[in-house]
Amino acid sequence: MDQIIVTGNGPLSGQIPIAGAKNACLTLMPATLLSEEPLTLTNAPRLSDIRTMTTLLQSLGAEVQALQDGQVLAMSSHDLTSVRADYDIVRKMRASILVLGPLLARFGHAEVSLPGGCAIGARPVDLHLKAFEAMGAELDLREGYVHAKAPAGGLRGGIVEFPFVSVGATENALMAATLAKGTTVLKNAAREPEIVDLAQCLRKMGAQIDGEGTSEITIQGVDTLGGATHRVVTDRIELGTYMLAPAICGGEVECLGGRIDLLAAFCEKLDAAGISVEETPNGLKVARKNGRVSAVDVTTEPFPGFPTDLQAQMMALLCTAGGTSVLEEKIFENRFMHAPELIRMGAKIDVHGGTATVTGVDHLRGAPVMATDLRASVSLILAGLAAEGDTIVSRVYHLDRGYEHVVRKLESVGAKIERVSGQ
Ligand code: EPZ
Repeated sequence: MDQIIVTGNGPLSGQIPIAGAKNACLTLMPATLLSEEPLTLTNAPRLSDIRTMTTLLQSLGAEVQALQDGQVLAMSSHDLTSVRADYDIVRKMRASILVLGPLLARFGHAEVSLPGGCAIGARPVDLHLKAFEAMGAELDLREGYVHAKAPAGGLRGGIVEFPFVSVGATENALMAATLAKGTTVLKNAAREPEIVDLAQCLRKMGAQIDGEGTSEITIQGVDTLGGATHRVVTDRIELGTYMLAPAICGGEVECLGGRIDLLAAFCEKLDAAGISVEETPNGLKVARKNGRVSAVDVTTEPFPGFPTDLQAQMMALLCTAGGTSVLEEKIFENRFMHAPELIRMGAKIDVHGGTATVTGVDHLRGAPVMATDLRASVSLILAGLAAEGDTIVSRVYHLDRGYEHVVRKLESVGAKIERVSGQ
């Protein structure tokens, strides 16, 4: 398995282009199943998760062509051959469950393997299933698969009240509702920018949607959807990750394509920590204001709160802040696996349940560490940028799921980083 070796090399300087959002692309791609007409996505990120979703859609008989080095995905679901999403693909990526809503809405039935949990938590899909039941679907769980069946006349519009915010369940229900008969209202819906992006794409396809970005979304079902071409929104998590690079080791970096509105809560915390964020015509310029980073407390929340997907990266920054920071992880039950690895680098972190208390140290020291999940892996690289000596990160396949060309992007702003092929 490949490893990435990072050596603390002082302040960074230059520009980093931010790619299209993985978590937007992973819900935009299944939307092709809703229509016979072609759906083309531009600004798509080149990631292993996108390749996994491509394989899944192709296993259903959809055509997916990756053009322009993977930045354009030309898709068509005119001639689907299956409505069954097999376990051997679904188990690799939970977002596979997002084919269920579109298949159920367009074909009236679907068999999708339950995705199973992952390193950061059990991650059930009960809210997805309850949403489809509210639209009249019958769901039967057998041999690890969800067997879903719509009423004879197709899904019916209904009221879906989410007991708590779920990004995926909101996306699945939103897609299914576009073809349901009548009106569907999603209450306590997720407000993430990726959902706004999905709604905008579905509207281009002919869907009638109001309220995306708020906690109540209303969808008026239509008989069929057409095709569209849609540009994937900027990846706010990749953006936040690279904003933390100059914050952690000094210097100034401009993140091209960055937008403050995608990360307002995160930028407020950076400001409190002593990091300046300046909007430029090309994106966001980030620099450490002066001297040491200040400790700040962070609680992860659904959008527009502080994103859970930036919690691990923020912890890496706070490891060398002046003072003590308290991080509360409120979204997932086991999302501090980067803490023991950071402790190997000299960090002082106490984890109790969903709370991590970080006491800043003067500097971290490079060490061999292990990536455990996507965002934990990149927090170790960020820590390595500021550590004395070499940090050797193993199991970097986690990184490839969500960060394209991470070595090239960081090298381009002066980081000392290389990828070595594994034994
Ligand atoms: C999406 O996951 C993202 N993934 C995650 O990003 C992100 O961390 C998460 O939203 C929260 O923002 C994609 O978009 C592909 P949820 P999702 O449903 O939809 C529980 C990354 O690093 N829950 O909002 O799975 C769930 O277990 C990934 O890019 C239920 O209990 O997240 C979690 O504790 C990691 N039942 C909480 O709700 C359900 O039916 C929020 O999950 C659904 C969710």
